[in-house]
Amino acid sequence: MKNLFDLTDRVIIITGGGGFLGARYAKALAGAGAQVVVWDSKEAVLVSERIVNQKIDITHEPQVKDAVSEILSRWGRIDGLINNAAMNPAVGSDEASKQFVPYEEYPIELWERELKVNLTGMMICTKAVVPSMMSHKSGSIVNIASEVSTIAHDHRVYNDPENRKFKSIAYTTTKTAVLGFTRQWAARLGRHNIRVNSFSLGGVQNEKMPADFVSRFGDSNMLGRMAHIDEYNGAIIFLCSDASSFITGSNLTADGGKSAW
Ligand SMILES: NC(=O)c1ccc[n+]([C@@H]2O[C@H](COP(=O)([O-])OP(=O)(O)OC[C@H]3O[C@@H](n4cnc5c(N)ncnc54)[C@H](O)[C@@H]3O)[C@@H](O)[C@H]2O)c1
Repeated sequence: MKNLFDLTDRVIIITGGGGFLGARYAKALAGAGAQVVVWDSKEAVLVSERIVNQKIDITHEPQVKDAVSEILSRWGRIDGLINNAAMNPAVGSDEASKQFVPYEEYPIELWERELKVNLTGMMICTKAVVPSMMSHKSGSIVNIASEVSTIAHDHRVYNDPENRKFKSIAYTTTKTAVLGFTRQWAARLGRHNIRVNSFSLGGVQNEKMPADFVSRFGDSNMLGRMAHIDEYNGAIIFLCSDASSFITGSNLTADGGKSAW
């Protein structure tokens, strides 16, 4: 039987592929046979025969267009795009504290920067790859959302004695917008045999997180724990591969049952 999850020689771009989760997706896709191209603004961390890095800022359209031209001259096609880059500093990091302020005090420059990376960057990258996908009449685009795409973040998980810690209003707003962006591009591209889906994932545990936060967050879903770092690789391969060939305009949720509760 044909391996529905096989990605042999498919050229797949992943934005933010140098980050915490993106790097795992890149390795998983390469493991399934894909030629992976990482687009990240920071220096390459992954190097292998099947993973190539292009250091670019996804909010800069000329840089993205140049990167696409390089890919096309090397491989001649683009089969997949995973729009994964976002401003999502880990809970417990210094960076995160700037994005956790009460909304009535939220700096507008930060809000605008988050909209630019999380949404405009997604638009620029999608625009740039679509002509190639249209010319060979196939492609899969996966837009990374979050569990907060359909539900509000419950701030009680922070247990902040001063009650001043709130998940970024810009982050949660952009993640909800990703679902509309996905549906609209899916409607545009369906007749070109290009599928566009979003992926709403729940929180992943990492070593910077305080133990009491991990415990409270875990308690907020049906499985009673945060996700492990490699638990989304299967969903990513599924959405990029022929295993999901009739799925488009959809939002796949992997949140331990949180949004169903
Ligand atoms: N980690 C989680 O628990 C979690 C939960 C739900 C959703 N998500 C989503 O998953 C995705 C990845 O999250 P993560 O935790 O790996 O974040 P991360 O911060 O580790 O990775 C994001 C990557 O994007 C890159 N990036 C940021 N701005 C860029 C730009 N302008 N141009 C190019 N690259 C840029 C960063 O350099 C970084 O490598 C995000 O979309 C996030 O919202 C994560």
